[in-house]
Amino acid sequence: MDEADPRALGRRMIAWKRARRVLLCVTGGIAAYKIPELVSRLVRLDCEVEILMTRAAERLVSPLALSTLSGRRVWRQDDFLSCERGFEIPHIRLADWAEVVLVAPCTANTASDLAHGRGESLIASALLAARGPVLLFPAMNVHMFEHPATQQNLRILSERGVRVVDPAFGALACGYEGKGRLPETDLILEELFRALAPKRDMEGVRLLVTAGPTREYLDPVRYLSNPSTGRMGISMARTAWYRGAEVKLVLGPVEGTGTLHGLEVRRVVSALEMYDAVMEESDWASCVVKAAAVGDYRARDRSPRKIKREGRETVSIELEQNPDIAAEVGRRKRPGQVLIGFAAETDDLLKNARAKMERKGLDLIVANDVLAPGCGFGADTNTVRVLFRDEETVLSGSKEEVADGVWDLVAGRGLF
Ligand SMILES: Cc1cc2nc3c(=O)[nH]c(=O)nc-3n(C[C@H](O)[C@H](O)[C@H](O)COP(=O)(O)O)c2cc1C
Repeated sequence: MDEADPRALGRRMIAWKRARRVLLCVTGGIAAYKIPELVSRLVRLDCEVEILMTRAAERLVSPLALSTLSGRRVWRQDDFLSCERGFEIPHIRLADWAEVVLVAPCTANTASDLAHGRGESLIASALLAARGPVLLFPAMNVHMFEHPATQQNLRILSERGVRVVDPAFGALACGYEGKGRLPETDLILEELFRALAPKRDMEGVRLLVTAGPTREYLDPVRYLSNPSTGRMGISMARTAWYRGAEVKLVLGPVEGTGTLHGLEVRRVVSALEMYDAVMEESDWASCVVKAAAVGDYRARDRSPRKIKREGRETVSIELEQNPDIAAEVGRRKRPGQVLIGFAAETDDLLKNARAKMERKGLDLIVANDVLAPGCGFGADTNTVRVLFRDEETVLSGSKEEVADGVWDLVAGRGLF
C-alpha cells in the first residue's frame, strides 16, 4: 500500500484504532449532511459501520448515500416493527454487536427520548439495549441547545455514563451564531478512539507536555529555530488522553497538527515563553514530558528593525544561553512527580542521553538518533531507546505507537 492510496493515511495509525465495530445512529438534525464523510473515514480505517436512521434523518441525508459508503444496508425506522425484517430484531442484534455507539448528530428530540428511556424509535430501543460506550454529539440551534429541557436531558445522560460532547461554536444553519454545530469529523474520531482505547490506566494523572520547536527572533522577520513538528510530543499527549489523563500541552510554533481536541493547549513562541508557561504549570502536573526542541540560545540584542544586507558583507550575532527548562523542572521536582525527557542526538546517543537524564533529574529519557532513517524531526515513524536508570528498551513504530509504548513502560513500573 503506497502513499497515494487514501487508505495509507489510516495504515500509520496505532493498531487498535482500526477495524472496530461502530453503530452509528443518525437523527434528524441539519448536520446529518456531514455524516457521509464520517462514514467514509471510518471505512478507510477498516471499521465495520452499521447505520440506524430516524425518519427525520432520512429527510436530511440520503440512506442510499450512507449505505453506499458503509457498504451495508442502512436500518430505517420502518425496519423496526416491520413484518419483513422484524425477525432480525435489529435493535438487540446491533446493540450486542457494536463495540461503540455514536449518536451523531443527536437532536433535542432524540436526547429527550434517551434521557427518559423511551423505546418507540429503533434508535432509542437500540440505546436501551447497548452495553458498551455511548457517545452523543448534540447539534442544534443555539436556543434549542441552551433550553433548560435540553440541558437537563443531556445532564441526565451524562450522569448515566454517556459521553456527551459539547457542540462547537460558530455559524449555524438557521442563521444564528452560537454553540450548536456538529464538531469536525476529526474531533468525532478522537472521541471515538478514546472510547475504544484498550487501556484507561492514566485516570487521575495530570500530565504536562511540551512539544514543537521554539523561535528565537533576531529581528522582526528572521529567527533561529529547528525542524521539529511537535508530532512526538503531541503523540505523548494524545495517547495519554486516550488512557484517561488530564493533559496540558505547551506547544511551540507548529502548523498542521490536526485537531488538538481534549488537550488544554498553550501556544508559545520563544524558549523564554516556554519556560514561563512550564514554570506556571509544573506544580499542577503529576507527570511532565519535555518533548519540545527548545532553542539553547537566543540573540543577545534582538534588532527592533529588519537587519539590512546593504553595506554588510558579514553579520555577527551574539547569542546567549536560554534557561534550561528541563533542569529547572528537575530541581523543583515534587516527591512522586514523574519527569520524562527526550534526547535527539546525532553522536554518542546512549552516553549523551544518560548524562542528560542525570543532569536534569529525569526518571526516564527517550533517546533517538535523529540521523537514522525514518526517525526524528518530521518523520511519521520513530525508533527510540527508552532509558531508565536500570533498564533499556527499544521501541519502534509510528510516533503514536512509540508514545503508547512509553506509557506502557511507565505504567508497568508503577510510576503512576
Ligand atoms: C430543516 C430542519 C433542520 C433541523 N435541524 C435540527 C437540528 O439541527 N437539531 C435538532 O435538534 N432538531 C432539528 N430539527 C428538528 C428535528 O428534525 C425534529 O425535532 C425531529 O422530530 C427530530 O426527530 P428525530 O430525533 O427522531 O430525528 C430540524 C428540522 C428541520 C425541518
